[in-house]
Amino acid sequence: MKPKILITRAIFPEVVERLQAHAEVEANQDDILFDPAEMARRLADKDGVLVVASRIDAVALGQATRLRVVSNMAVGYNNLDIEAMTRAHILATNTPDVLNETTADLGWVLMMAAARRITESEHWLRAGHWKQWGYELFAGTDIYGATLGIVGMGRIGQAIARRARGFGMRVIYHNRSQVSPEIERELNAEFVDKTTLMKQADHVMLVVPYSAATHHIIGAAELALMKPSATLTNIARGGIVDETALIAALREHRIAAAGLDVFEGEPKFNPAFLELSNVVLTPHIGSASLPTRRAMAHLAVDNLLAGLGLGPQAGNPPNPINPEVLGASRG
Ligand code: GLV
Repeated sequence: MKPKILITRAIFPEVVERLQAHAEVEANQDDILFDPAEMARRLADKDGVLVVASRIDAVALGQATRLRVVSNMAVGYNNLDIEAMTRAHILATNTPDVLNETTADLGWVLMMAAARRITESEHWLRAGHWKQWGYELFAGTDIYGATLGIVGMGRIGQAIARRARGFGMRVIYHNRSQVSPEIERELNAEFVDKTTLMKQADHVMLVVPYSAATHHIIGAAELALMKPSATLTNIARGGIVDETALIAALREHRIAAAGLDVFEGEPKFNPAFLELSNVVLTPHIGSASLPTRRAMAHLAVDNLLAGLGLGPQAGNPPNPINPEVLGASRG
């Protein structure tokens, strides 16, 4: 009998078709948002789930007695209750690497837009205010030759650092552990403590995964260390930054500007951001290029099929999050 699979949100039709070759697929191409109870109901008879921008928590797993694989179409997995999955011997997988360069690009887009006041000046121009040139008109901060401070030197952080070479930047970074001397040499990056980074960076870039350990690691105290001319860019997760403290710092011009792709509680976000001209806001589009989203979707399918013992990589999913459950039978 074919396994049963749920796809939680709308996705490329070719991805649905690819899964249909192996499984009985319940696809949500109407893109309805399932609450935890509805998710639980949908998962009750499924063997696998392709998670597209959805939360799978203990409630959602409550009736999922057959579920063997939860394949997340994202690199971050704070939307999954991994402990509950591991306890239930359910394999969880994610999609690292294929989105590194696209996400690094967006970090740069936001940093540059914030530093050079791009959205602010465009809104002003569109509103018909441009009557004459002025020597300070939308004067921002430089990128070229500045110091870039990267918090989180994983694969995306490294891709961001690599781009800094072309901009003649000094790169400092802070990470749970120092990367190898070879990587540091290649990136021309220097490991510093968080305080030094916040004090010295002209542009701070946040790329750490979200967890209890990284909750609000940038708060009032850290923002107070930053130069008034500095920018802060967050392409990781909203919960990393204390947004109330950031709003105050931006409002009082204690830092120059911010670029934010992620928000605590998104898609809801603090409306105070909308009142600030010195923040560039995007709706969590870090990995949003069509080729990258396609690559993520297909990698998520590779993981799902392999986890279910199907396809060419059967039994060997490329990206297990909790590999300890591999081989443990369920059901
Ligand atoms: C996007 O935020 C991801 O984690 O892939």
